[in-house]
Amino acid sequence: MNGFMQTKLAILGIETSCDETAASVVLRHADGRGEILSNVVLSQLEEHRAYGGVVPEIAARAHVEALDTLIEEALLQSGHSLPELDGIAATAGPGLIGGLIVGLMTGKTIAMAAEKPLYAVNHLEGHALTARLTDGLSFPYLMLLVSGGHTQLILVKGVGAYERWGTTIDDALGEAFDKTAKLLGLPYPGGPAVEKAALAGDPKRFPLPRPLVGEARLDFSFSGLKTAVRQAATSIAPLGEQDIADICASFQHAVSRTLRDRIGRGLERFRSLHPSIDTPSLVVAGGVAANRVLRETLDGLCRDHGFRFIAPPHHLCTDNAAMIAWAGLERMAAGLPSDGLDVQPRSRWPLDAGAETLIGHGKRGAKA
Ligand code: KG4
Ligand code: ZN
Repeated sequence: MNGFMQTKLAILGIETSCDETAASVVLRHADGRGEILSNVVLSQLEEHRAYGGVVPEIAARAHVEALDTLIEEALLQSGHSLPELDGIAATAGPGLIGGLIVGLMTGKTIAMAAEKPLYAVNHLEGHALTARLTDGLSFPYLMLLVSGGHTQLILVKGVGAYERWGTTIDDALGEAFDKTAKLLGLPYPGGPAVEKAALAGDPKRFPLPRPLVGEARLDFSFSGLKTAVRQAATSIAPLGEQDIADICASFQHAVSRTLRDRIGRGLERFRSLHPSIDTPSLVVAGGVAANRVLRETLDGLCRDHGFRFIAPPHHLCTDNAAMIAWAGLERMAAGLPSDGLDVQPRSRWPLDAGAETLIGHGKRGAKA
């Protein structure tokens, strides 16, 4: 399928699936190049901090309060009015249902009023296609999504064509960071706090487990690691600052070794499937992609396997609406149909419909 539309297209994207309210206008040039005209994100971090995780009811209310203004702001910054747009794209899942209803309803209303096609976008597809917006990457490539709600290794074959090679069978990696932080009395969100504490720590002090290492399947598991962290902490309580640093460093070390094994196998599988691609790409996305140890691990792994490692800028790795607008643009440009106004939000919506449902997979609830 070539299908690339030879005209310039602009879409308004809306994202409300978790704790970021976001709106963005993205342009797709006739040659396929993407250009972000505006990208407004309002994080609800402060609203949820006191609870140590995302509270669905608070999230939904915050989306309702902020979304209209954010959309106005995104349009204003883009220099485009609604009639000048070619379509509306809103996240329809997976995620917290209250927030999804707010975003998708708003998208439908705008699409109807402005008589534009509506694209109900899978949030994971937004993450999966971002590297084409930022780096003009061509298909196929591998994508590792590591966020508070997801840990998935996905083969991206084309627009709408995804194969899930691995997913977590229990906690998401971001969730494991958040739970480890909570156990150690570090602030929410836990990832950045664990990374910071680990800087002064000894990664070899606690030999923590490396779940599923050595197994042929490409899935992940992090809940055992969290339990081992709890046991290590209990065994030496009360914890001093150095103990916390050592546990955090040991935790990151175990995560890094686990990922080396799991992703390394994924890279090998990609190679054997696509021997003609000289330098294939691994893309990382999701909030955990901010972690330096993780980036270095993936970067080193890619070098060892002759892969190119692509980490889009942090604000496009975490939840945003530019990726949703871009997913809509990709679908439109490929000539795929838009959605009817009766399309429903879905709290669970795997990218790869053929993939087996696993416990924990696709879960996006309280992240703590
Ligand atoms: O993609 P994201 O911003 O949001 C959702 O999942 O909705 O990811 C947030 C997750 C949290 O679990 C947070 O602790 C984790 O990403 N995170 C990190 C770092 N920064 C954020 N984990 C490890 N190291 C970091 N530097
Ligand atoms: Zn996300």
